[in-house]
Amino acid sequence: MFGRLVVVGLGLIGGSFAKGLREKGLFREVVGVDLDLESRRVAVELGVVDRCEEDLSAACVGADVIQLAVPILAMGKLLMALAKLDLAGAVLTDVGSAKGSVVRAAELAFAGLSLRFVPGHPIAGSEQSGVEAANGQLFRRHKVILTPLPQVDAAALTLVDRLWRELGADVEHMQVEHHDQVLAATSHLPHLLAFGLVDSLAKRSENLEIFRYAAGGFRDFTRIAGSDPLMWHDIFLANREAVLRTLDAFRDDLDALRGAIDAGDGHQLLGVFTRARVAREHFSKILARRAYVDAMDNNDLIYLAQPGGSLSGRIRVPGDKSISHRSIMLGSLAEGTTEVEGFLEGEDALATLQAFRDMGVVIEGPHHGRVTIHGVGLHGLQAPPGPIYLGNSGTSMRLLSGLLAAQSFDSTLTGDASLTKRPMNRVAKPLREMGAVIETAAEGRPPLVIRGGQRLSGMNYQMPMASAQVKSSLLLAGLYAAGETAVTEPAPTRDHTERMLRGFGYPVSVEGSTAAVESGHKLTATQIEVPADISSAAFFLVAASIAEGSELLLEHVGINPTRTGVIDILKLMGADISLENQREVGGEPVADLRVRAAKLKGIDIPEELVPLAIDEFPVLFIAAACAEGRTVLRGAEELRVKESDRIQVMADGLLALGVKCEPTPDGIIIDGNAVSGAIGGGEVHSHGDHRIAMAFSVASLRASAPIRIHDCANVATSFPNFLGLAAQVGIRVSEEVQA
Ligand code: S3P
Repeated sequence: MFGRLVVVGLGLIGGSFAKGLREKGLFREVVGVDLDLESRRVAVELGVVDRCEEDLSAACVGADVIQLAVPILAMGKLLMALAKLDLAGAVLTDVGSAKGSVVRAAELAFAGLSLRFVPGHPIAGSEQSGVEAANGQLFRRHKVILTPLPQVDAAALTLVDRLWRELGADVEHMQVEHHDQVLAATSHLPHLLAFGLVDSLAKRSENLEIFRYAAGGFRDFTRIAGSDPLMWHDIFLANREAVLRTLDAFRDDLDALRGAIDAGDGHQLLGVFTRARVAREHFSKILARRAYVDAMDNNDLIYLAQPGGSLSGRIRVPGDKSISHRSIMLGSLAEGTTEVEGFLEGEDALATLQAFRDMGVVIEGPHHGRVTIHGVGLHGLQAPPGPIYLGNSGTSMRLLSGLLAAQSFDSTLTGDASLTKRPMNRVAKPLREMGAVIETAAEGRPPLVIRGGQRLSGMNYQMPMASAQVKSSLLLAGLYAAGETAVTEPAPTRDHTERMLRGFGYPVSVEGSTAAVESGHKLTATQIEVPADISSAAFFLVAASIAEGSELLLEHVGINPTRTGVIDILKLMGADISLENQREVGGEPVADLRVRAAKLKGIDIPEELVPLAIDEFPVLFIAAACAEGRTVLRGAEELRVKESDRIQVMADGLLALGVKCEPTPDGIIIDGNAVSGAIGGGEVHSHGDHRIAMAFSVASLRASAPIRIHDCANVATSFPNFLGLAAQVGIRVSEEVQA
């Protein structure tokens, strides 16, 4: 318990600070000071303070903490008055929106800085003002920035930090100049523009017309022009230098936009608009360091899957993830404009798209799966303005590292918590052999720092594991490396990169298990139609197989032979799947898949099928749990380094539902039970892995009780409308409504 808190200036911010701390009971008394009699009266009446004083010294002498919450231009005078008092050990702090001017005023007043002064700035303004609006909860979940000087008294800093935390604020520390620059850009400039625009339009003779027809855009953009003019007048005068710097930079950008309009340069305009459109969302995702999903405050998105049901109907699942990634990469490196249809608007592919926008490529869309990429050619990428954030997407990180190793600029690749745990040496090591300079965090984990300006040389690489990502990464580096780059795989893996390079007119030689490229050619823009993703279709192949009475048609599914292991494995287990209307679309084979319920039996999964079904094992394990007899998987240790350790995480979930199984270092043994309801209900955890979440949703079809699946937000990385399509065909899974 402390002695006395004094708050000088009983407006919204000062009043809320006083009220919140008074409610917490941390001080024996809370005293307000204000020049306005009415504010003093109301503050006592509303319980904002215990008592008020008109006279500064009567309140402040003997105080423990003095909070300065007066308008920013009044700070200088107030600090001068305080410097004349004997404040003994009182801690001083303030709430001014610009910090440099307050710090200078304090230095002047105290002839050198008071070591017990801790400048602060709560970012919690609102349209309301005055002590009448004081609210002890105002700062909850709001940022408060403290800008202590290096020589500050540590105990004073700790105390001010603690007081704000007691009020529920997120406290951060920053340097004074940095604070003022950041606020100039994020708050002061927008207010200046809003005030300026409204005034500029209001002055014109046709102003009535303008305001009569002002639609949402004008209203939204200018809402903040309703803010307190006097307060903002103070802020601009107090933060003059920082505001001028940010205003000048903005004026240059505005001139560039004017120039583009004048010159009819639509490309320049599109570049600015397409980047800006997603920038806000993009940056908030990076700040949250999560995948590109909107989990709001709730990190644990729970799926509740009700037992039973059967499937019917026809659906088209979203576009292929692997092909979507590659369409953006190769489209960006091509000369000319590439049109993509069927693009997966999932968070992983969007991460790739954003990465290329960050490197200066103008990309329109996605809109209903259509994307238009204005290619910049193999040598046209520009240095990104900062680290490239790839969310949950391993494919983006591995493929991009090959491409970026060959650029003239440096780059840094980061991702969310799951991606940060995944092994990157599998690409970093061979790329270094080609001459790349790549730094990783411990044990080859992200972030990756890639040094530009290296001359790469081609090589013959024998891949130690069957990985299409590693193969693709090296082939992309090979587009720039001297001579030939050849990659030999121990088993066939998806060949979308090779096919698509050819689609863009780039020669690729494939002989046996070796794919090779030579530098010196170019990519020419093309049209790409992305087929539906067989990895997403797999959930429905298993669902319709295990749910009695089901018949389902999955339209336009990619059946590239390097991806159809799931169909082969299910057929070996006795599934009834037929391929209809087989055709080739843009270099990739496609078919409609008809699947009917069938009695499944356990099998020994042939090892050569493992790389061809590598992403489908979580749901194949569900099929095995519903099959009669034992299923054994071997040679699948790669599953342990996917978005989660898919062997362990699936085994944990299956055991929780009463399925007999045993994980092994490179696979799993599952003792299935074909009796309906043999899977129990219960709680399972997806560990943020999209495919685990969807696999257990499918398990509910044969469960005896509801299954609650935790941590499902990442389903949006590969299958944004999974719940919608699942419900449409008869799987009873939905988001659990939080109480
Ligand atoms: C992918 C390759 C596979 C797969 C991933 C996508 C690709 O990874 O699991 O979902 O697009 O190249 P590996 O190369 O690690 O096997």
